[in-house]
Amino acid sequence: MRHLLLAVAVTALALAGCDKSGEGGSSKMVVGFSQIGSESGWRTAETNAARKAAAERGVDLRISDAQQRQENQIKAIRAFIAQGVDGILLAPVVATGWDQILREAKAANIPVILLDRQIETQDPSLYLSAVTSDQVLEGRMAGDWLVKEVKGRDCPVVELQGTVGSSPAIARKKGFDASVAKASNVKVVRSQSGDFTRSKAKEVMESAIKSLGGTRLCAVYAHNDDMMIGAIQALKEAGLKPGKDVLTVSIDAVPDIFKAMADGDANATVELTPEMAAPALDMLAAYKKDGKAPPKWKQTPTKLYLPDTAAAEYERRKDQY
Ligand code: AHR
Repeated sequence: MRHLLLAVAVTALALAGCDKSGEGGSSKMVVGFSQIGSESGWRTAETNAARKAAAERGVDLRISDAQQRQENQIKAIRAFIAQGVDGILLAPVVATGWDQILREAKAANIPVILLDRQIETQDPSLYLSAVTSDQVLEGRMAGDWLVKEVKGRDCPVVELQGTVGSSPAIARKKGFDASVAKASNVKVVRSQSGDFTRSKAKEVMESAIKSLGGTRLCAVYAHNDDMMIGAIQALKEAGLKPGKDVLTVSIDAVPDIFKAMADGDANATVELTPEMAAPALDMLAAYKKDGKAPPKWKQTPTKLYLPDTAAAEYERRKDQY
């Protein structure tokens, strides 16, 4: 009996001293991060912020770049499950199609936190929490600014949507539409996806300018700043003056849009903070410690920026990516 007790005690001590790297000492939290890719400056800033947040917290963060493809994200999550990570951060490229892989993570007892985008599911128990902004509010804020700015005059608008089927594209459209529905003078005359990238948005804007022919364009609303930068290039190449003849409002608040605002080429941006991973890692650490589920949604702040502070904001943020 004494031998048995001794063996149990030795095994318990050995297990307590084991970490995931097998080097002993205190256990380092290992977290897999399935990132969408690097389609925008904002996305790069979010990845950089995640690396920094992990380093500050002593977390082993394993980042997988899905290059915009959901199937790559599903493979990455499966690999994280096989590695037995302590938690998974998922920035879901589109809103649907996650249930199966999230069920696999749940069955393996690995909590998943959604970053910056929401998913559509009938079973919210499949993820622990979501750290995102209110994306409908972002669209509404952009619309409210435009309605106020044009003061009742006729305003045909080109809308550049984000990735088809992604939660920010769906929600930012919804919020903007709801806001401008109150003003009969503001009309979206063309709405197309620029996939959150500069190059695609520039192409879409070029074709919009052509197809609108003589119609005076009043404003461009882009679901992110990178697409607005592409649109600004297209407008300038067509001899138009963005920021003056054509108003611009977009979302993210990346350094380049502040530069454009300071130069007089853009008018407004709604901020989306790239600091998503830090609160998510803190939630995972707390959950790992006490097993208490955090709130289902951690909402990040939303704020409108105008040219008056653009030069200072550019200086403050220029090293973000
Ligand atoms: O999900 C957040 C959005 O994704 C950002 O607004 C956009 O820049 C990024 O691609």
